[in-house]
Amino acid sequence: MTNESLMEKIISLSKRRGFIFPSSEIYGGFESGYDYGPLGVELKNNLKKVWWKNIVQERKEIVGLDAAILMNPKVWEASGHLSAGFADCLVECKNCHKRFKETETGNRCPVCGGEFLPARKFNLMMKTYVGPIEDESAVTYLRAETCQGIYMNFLNVLNVSRLKIPFGIAQIGKSFRNEITPSNFIFRTREFEQMEMQFFVRPSEAEKWYEYWKKERLNWYLNLGIKKENIKLQEHKKEELAHYAKAGCDIVYHFPFGWQEIEGIHNRGDWDLSRHSKYSGQDLSYFDPITQERYIPYIIETSGGIDRALLTFLIDAYQEVKGGRTTTTKASKEVEVVLKLDKNLAPIKIAIFPLVKKEPLIKLAQEIYQDLKKYWLVDYDETDSIGRRYRRQDEIGTPYAVTIDFESINDQKVTVRDRDTMKQERVEIKNLRKYFFDKFYSF
Ligand code: GAP
Repeated sequence: MTNESLMEKIISLSKRRGFIFPSSEIYGGFESGYDYGPLGVELKNNLKKVWWKNIVQERKEIVGLDAAILMNPKVWEASGHLSAGFADCLVECKNCHKRFKETETGNRCPVCGGEFLPARKFNLMMKTYVGPIEDESAVTYLRAETCQGIYMNFLNVLNVSRLKIPFGIAQIGKSFRNEITPSNFIFRTREFEQMEMQFFVRPSEAEKWYEYWKKERLNWYLNLGIKKENIKLQEHKKEELAHYAKAGCDIVYHFPFGWQEIEGIHNRGDWDLSRHSKYSGQDLSYFDPITQERYIPYIIETSGGIDRALLTFLIDAYQEVKGGRTTTTKASKEVEVVLKLDKNLAPIKIAIFPLVKKEPLIKLAQEIYQDLKKYWLVDYDETDSIGRRYRRQDEIGTPYAVTIDFESINDQKVTVRDRDTMKQERVEIKNLRKYFFDKFYSF
């Protein structure tokens, strides 16, 4: 399979099975906008829950936050986002007037070979107005990163919790950037979601925590099944560092369109809290009861994109199997798609199949469905052959299928089939709930 065809297959599967649709499609779409369909929203929600469990739920020293998207515009002045640091260089073709990021093109237009007009700086902040009068005093911005909301609440969280340094604040939410060249499906869009965590540390310990979070975040992807050969850490050179960073690295993934960043880990030093102290006039320093010193904490940031991670998991999980995994002879001649998503990420957890569409199998299958759907997202399917039903579920990554056959009526057992090993085991109906509780996280 070529890289282009893999990307086309992911886009086509996403649309066909309801993971991701182009935005406003009946009006011809909206550049770089995408909507998550019934399966996509489940996958996205699971991704967020798995991150939240790992970062917030399982760590006593990290708490969550949900800050507003619209903030006082001074936030963005202080953060440096309104200045040259948060801008891309745009070049425009003299001939066809197509625009490109200067860093992503050569000396001539890749579309028509025309010459470029002189490069222009282009700020990425999305501007808007609050209130009814659209003048300069009403200008604000859609946030370009969620972490600024965390800095705004550093003192609030400190005052209401018993947290002491080192501690962290985590947030998931939408961010917006007026990207010049949105591209590669949901990889680079103008509206996207971030999962960010800011870890406040003693300056003398910043390097230690930076190393710690690099490993933690890489392992998170690996533990969720991303293949080792497709993911790595890439340290930034001094000249590549963002305007706020003392050190930084990316977690990069081997996409069909090359190695690209999916998450950044930065030692932001005291940049953020110092700048916000200066611009707001509020003292954002911290008195350390252990060292008896007052200082501006350093921040180690982990900043991932939900949409990019979702694309990563879809691509990495996609497999085509020739020769047939399912039982029907017709299907065995075809290429079958299996989405080997981690079972906690999979949109639908369990599929329930009565072997044939007949009583008393339907009644028993319905009873099992009614019980399990209280705990997980479960699908009930009684149409087509059992082979076809397996295929439909394999293609969307459902980890388990439960088949109710005539024997089930007598022995009160069902067959559970594992998506990856295709092993089948008989499980007593009365133990089914416990069987699945042992398989999945509870969020
Ligand atoms: N607070 C630091 C920060 O925002 P970043 O490297 O600009 O750092 C972090 O962004 C992550 O957000 C990226 O690694 C990527 O996953 C995601 N991201 C950034 N811009 C994006 C875009 N235009 N579309 C989709 N995801 C994006």
